Amino acid sequence: MKTLIVFLVLCLALTHASNNTICAKGYNLVNNKCWKLFQDAASHANAERSCSADGGTLFMAKNAIDNRAVASFVSSSGVDHLWMGVFCIGNSRNVCYYDDQTGSTLLYDNFAAGFPNSATGRCVYYSVPGYPTGQWLNGDCLQKLSYVCELPTTHPDVCELNFNDNCYFTLDAFPFSDGQQQCEQLCANMVSVHSSEENRYITSLYSTSSYDFIRLGGMAPSSNFVTWNDGSIMDYNNMERFDSTGCLYMSLKNDYYHSTGSWYTADCTTPKHILCKRPIGAPNCRSTPVPITPPPITPPTCNSGVHVAPGWIATPRYPSAYNAACQYTLTTFGSNRIRIYFFYGVYTPNSNDQVNIYDGDSTDAPRLATLYGKVGDQLYTSTGNTMFIDFVYRSGSTSTYSGFNATFFSIF
Ligand SMILES: *[C@@H]1O[C@H](CO)[C@@H](O)[C@H](O)[C@H]1NC(C)=O
Ligand SMILES: *[C@@H]1O[C@H](CO)[C@@H](O)[C@H](O)[C@H]1NC(C)=O
Repeated sequence: MKTLIVFLVLCLALTHASNNTICAKGYNLVNNKCWKLFQDAASHANAERSCSADGGTLFMAKNAIDNRAVASFVSSSGVDHLWMGVFCIGNSRNVCYYDDQTGSTLLYDNFAAGFPNSATGRCVYYSVPGYPTGQWLNGDCLQKLSYVCELPTTHPDVCELNFNDNCYFTLDAFPFSDGQQQCEQLCANMVSVHSSEENRYITSLYSTSSYDFIRLGGMAPSSNFVTWNDGSIMDYNNMERFDSTGCLYMSLKNDYYHSTGSWYTADCTTPKHILCKRPIGAPNCRSTPVPITPPPITPPTCNSGVHVAPGWIATPRYPSAYNAACQYTLTTFGSNRIRIYFFYGVYTPNSNDQVNIYDGDSTDAPRLATLYGKVGDQLYTSTGNTMFIDFVYRSGSTSTYSGFNATFFSIF
């Protein structure tokens, strides 16, 4: 019998080891929870704040196994009492609530006889040694006790911000759409939020920043509906202010309109700091962002250069309005000649923008024609095997005038 138990314990230990569950921030893995003991006594509010700074809560025992595990976890420390992540607003178990907003202690509790008793104080603490061992009592929230903070478990990844099986990346300010693009470079999406724990974790990432708010990766068509960029379903809502359909933000400060961690809607275009998130272990991902090179400002897409007949040449952006000058060298082989055909004519405002056609390979060669304004189809032929086309652009106009598209051939 004893051997069997040892064997089972060994199996359990091995299964646990092979499953790479870990805890962030130096927390200890206990019963698939992450706990850390803070021995320095603090008021309930300060203990809560301290846990929040790590992105966690005060520990919550939701079954007898967890409840016993806490006692053994702190047994060597000599602490007597620990703040718990439970708060009672009355004297019955169904009005004592877990910190993670998962509900009341109705399903499991270990209150000592005569508790909960909010007359002694509304904050719940855990009694470690002696009698009653591992039992819960209420006390004055201002008294100072040691405490255990709790974080969700996660799994290893190269990322620095690893929480509850997701990697987070804090990036600079971007408009909504560019933000999503930035995140995609990290195989991530702009962040979605699925629990109060995650919401708290996110606010903790910015606890030392001066930002008033960050962009979230979602849009809200109404106060009780959010669509997330990463396609995840909405299963948690922390909307405080819904003004109109818009992009979602999270407040990082308490002010007249907002509370820390609450969500609200605003415009999608103003660049604001973003947070990216991806599941841990996503394949082929870099751990640091790659800066996006901004798109070039409408390059003059002129097909300048040397063209061997047959082919076509066109003003930049044709058939849209041109926005730049352009030069083209047309050539063919041996004793052949070039024939160019302005089938759709030429369209410019006036002689400020003109097409000069030279019978040779540069503007030094004899000029065959100068075209501008609105002219119909035209045909020119070179005497040698090259032709030079110089499109002059002086008007600065970037609308209306389409310039030309000409086709050229090689003839004997
Ligand atoms: C690790 O174990 C936990 C609980 O024991 C389980 O929920 C999780 O899915 C396991 N993960 C892997 C990668 O096996
Ligand atoms: C110019 O005309 C040729 C022949 O019709 C066509 O193949 C080409 O796509 C046109 N170029 C542009 C930029 O419209």
